[in-house]
Amino acid sequence: MVQCRSVLIIIFYFLSLCHHHCRAAKILGIFPTPGKSHYILESTLMKALVDAGHDVTIVSPFYEEYQFNGNGSYRQIILTGFLEEQTERRKAINLFEKSSINPLVAIYVMNKIGLKQTENTLKHESFQQLIHSTEKFDAVIVGQFMNDALKAMAHHFGGHLILFSSVGTSTWVNHLVGNPSLPSYTPEMILSYPAKMTYVQRMKNAFFNALYNINQIVVFYPEQNNLLKKYVPNPIDLNDALFNVSLVLLNTHESIGYPASTVPCMRQIGGYHVKPPKKLPKNLQDYLDSAENGVIYFSLGSNVNSSHLPMEKKLAIVEAFSNLKESILWKFEDDSFSKNLPKNVKVQSWFPQQDILAHPNLKLFITHGGFASTIETVHYGIPIIAIPIFGDQKMNAVYAESKQFGKILQWQDITGEKFFNLIREVIDNPIYKSNAEKKSLLLRDREVPPLKSAVYWIEYVLKHNGAPHLRVVSLELTWYQYYLLDVYVPIILSIYLLKLVIFRIFCKKLEKIKML
Ligand SMILES: *[C@@H]1O[C@H](CO)[C@@H](O)[C@H](O)[C@H]1NC(C)=O
Ligand SMILES: *[C@@H]1O[C@H](CO)[C@@H](O)[C@H](O)[C@H]1NC(C)=O
Ligand SMILES: *[C@@H]1O[C@H](CO)[C@@H](O)[C@H](O)[C@H]1NC(C)=O
Repeated sequence: MVQCRSVLIIIFYFLSLCHHHCRAAKILGIFPTPGKSHYILESTLMKALVDAGHDVTIVSPFYEEYQFNGNGSYRQIILTGFLEEQTERRKAINLFEKSSINPLVAIYVMNKIGLKQTENTLKHESFQQLIHSTEKFDAVIVGQFMNDALKAMAHHFGGHLILFSSVGTSTWVNHLVGNPSLPSYTPEMILSYPAKMTYVQRMKNAFFNALYNINQIVVFYPEQNNLLKKYVPNPIDLNDALFNVSLVLLNTHESIGYPASTVPCMRQIGGYHVKPPKKLPKNLQDYLDSAENGVIYFSLGSNVNSSHLPMEKKLAIVEAFSNLKESILWKFEDDSFSKNLPKNVKVQSWFPQQDILAHPNLKLFITHGGFASTIETVHYGIPIIAIPIFGDQKMNAVYAESKQFGKILQWQDITGEKFFNLIREVIDNPIYKSNAEKKSLLLRDREVPPLKSAVYWIEYVLKHNGAPHLRVVSLELTWYQYYLLDVYVPIILSIYLLKLVIFRIFCKKLEKIKML
């Protein structure tokens, strides 16, 4: 009998060990943004969870053949139609025909795009099936991108809410977890100011920040809440979901963006998506190996096609390239140049970017400055010329120029001569390469490899039941308590009253003296 009990105890002991250390969790990732660079970041994270033994479901517009070798499982729920719609939209608004967009218009446009995309996700047939199933998840990871209603899915599926932010701390997430950030030193992404702002920039930044927050509270969140009520059975109120975040994974690091304060539930994992370099396809490997004067790699990213540049700009670029001694790899998507290209230029519609950046002969990356490209170039210590087109790209470009590992060039300003001179400056002046290499050392010098850290913190949240001990108390305060208005106002009022009273008494005394 006694023996039997101890055996049982031992079994229970191992079962509970298992419960804490090797139980596979069911994790849902909701990533509806139809951008390839977003998907690469998001899927890298989810695949790492599979390798760690978890059962992963990913909701996204992309499908990918994927052989996993971990102990977990990987299920893809595809948001069909999203990519096609995105391509149509990109074709309709040629990004190169728009001049820079007014920030106020930008708020309006972002509201519209955000609402449309959230609605399309919530009402999508495949996602509706999941919503109406009885399936539960232990954690729900949402790609933070103008889709706040999706945060309520964590409650719906019974899991902890984890956010993935592809751009680091921002006005989108800071207030959700009570992260302090003042507009005096936190430039809004869309304004792309440097962290040390001039007086006028600080004024504009503060104004835009206030306006954006008012827009979120008065317009955007209520609309998102309506979508929730329309497409989800018995939803919770969005406000109860928004501020119940267990963990925010930030795709940033002090080596690739301005340092910012982070509350304990925010963790920096920037650089996690960079994979160890692989051997290149033979034609590219030979090309890079044999380039005596070094190689320049030019790509405007997965969302923007170089072939859409106005003809005049394309000709200016070709002119600049033809005067260079370096070899050039250009991501270019149609064959309009196939005959008339200079000998030192090779075009292809797609390149294995990370492996090219890793090649020792690479001298310069001419990029749109997107977050993934910026991290990859810093990882490999390659200086850049950034030609920002939209979104966070200008912010990254401004950062690169302010830290002197790159230069900005507005595409409107491209001429053959300017482009040529800028390329020579960044390659021939050693300061750019040297700064890029210093940044690279910083990005790689981590206590724990960032992907490992990401998996650790997700498992931490699971293990500690949502990790409520990480939440700051400011989340429980109202806005006037947070800004101490309920303290300052009575103090100022009482000083004022005191002054009045003293003045009265004093006056009376004076009058008495006069009467005497
Ligand atoms: C899968 O599980 C086995 C047995 O538990 C373990 O030995 C192995 O290391 C695991 N594989 C991975 C990739 O985690
Ligand atoms: C808030 O988060 C905690 C921890 O993840 C969870 O237990 C709780 O149910 C959540 N509350 C709501 C209203 O979703
Ligand atoms: C850009 O080029 C790729 C490859 O040729 C093509 O599939 C895609 O549709 C193009 N993008 C747009 C917005 O036209």
